[in-house]
Amino acid sequence: MEIKTVGVLGCGLMGSGIAQVCAAAGYKTIVREVDETFLNKGLGRIRKFLDEGVAKGKVTADARDTTIGNLSGSTTFDALKDCDLIIEAIIEDLEEKQQTYTALEKIVNDHAIFVSNTSSLCITELAATTMRPDRFGGLHFFNPVPLMKLVEVVRTILTDEAAVKAVTEWTRAVGKTPVQVKDSTAFIVNRLLVPYLLDAVRVYEGGLATLEDIDTAMKLGCGYPMGPFTLLDLVGLDTAMYVAEVMFEEFREPRYAPPPLLKRMVMAGQLGRKTGRGFYTYEGK
Ligand code: CAA
Repeated sequence: MEIKTVGVLGCGLMGSGIAQVCAAAGYKTIVREVDETFLNKGLGRIRKFLDEGVAKGKVTADARDTTIGNLSGSTTFDALKDCDLIIEAIIEDLEEKQQTYTALEKIVNDHAIFVSNTSSLCITELAATTMRPDRFGGLHFFNPVPLMKLVEVVRTILTDEAAVKAVTEWTRAVGKTPVQVKDSTAFIVNRLLVPYLLDAVRVYEGGLATLEDIDTAMKLGCGYPMGPFTLLDLVGLDTAMYVAEVMFEEFREPRYAPPPLLKRMVMAGQLGRKTGRGFYTYEGK
């Protein structure tokens, strides 16, 4: 199960980051989006990150050009036909994901391994609807993908050991640190992180302290790189709420229930950095 060519489905925040690290590690990488507008936006995000890396002295101009050279974009599934590994990072919609796998399975080689970057859907449910449940798992990356070192490697009771080994080796080859986890809602990181973020919203809603002071307290008091509200704005309030809802649905524990303020901010379209406003404002930044 040697992985040489990688296909990435979706060129949003996560998909573009995954495609970037994959291409930077020397893999021929093909990223697929539904239309040219989304594709160009995603590829533009990659170029911008690499240019900033060059400006900061973190990436050489040669490495940037090699990464871009290893990367190609397409709006067709056919472009992914020779991929050994397919990483799906499209919207968190079960039906949409299943339709995508069905379309791809008609085209790709039999040996190709499929992984989903989902942070909330059940990997077993996704795997069971494909014709390759033994070559299907989860690879959960973290935002911002080029900077975050961790990848959760998720296996189901159907995943073949050889497939787990191949994707684990691939995560190391792209410079990430893998951890192994069984398919279970929210895996390791979100299982522990999400209740903490929800609690932060609850204590703020309860009037304990200001946003800024809660963020400062958790940064300086615990040595976290960001306070909970800065992190919520980075992750996206809609994403955080969605993961919380799935966790609540699964475990029925009140600590996973999204707090009223979070719900209302999502309803109001205050989703964080991506909309220019969340707990903080980012207009003009
Ligand atoms: N190219 C290359 N390197 C770059 C770069 C670029 N364009 N931009 C920044 N860097 C480098 C910086 O030079 C710096 O390197 P050094 O450490 O060697 O100095 C490093 O990356 C960090 O960058 P910054 O100094 O600009 O920023 P920072 O120190 O504030 O760190 C951060 C940024 C990595 C995002 C950090 O704040 C952090 O770890 N935050 C927490 C993020 C987090 O928890 N993410 C997980 C979210 S949960 C999730 O994603 C799961 C889900 O399912 C919802």
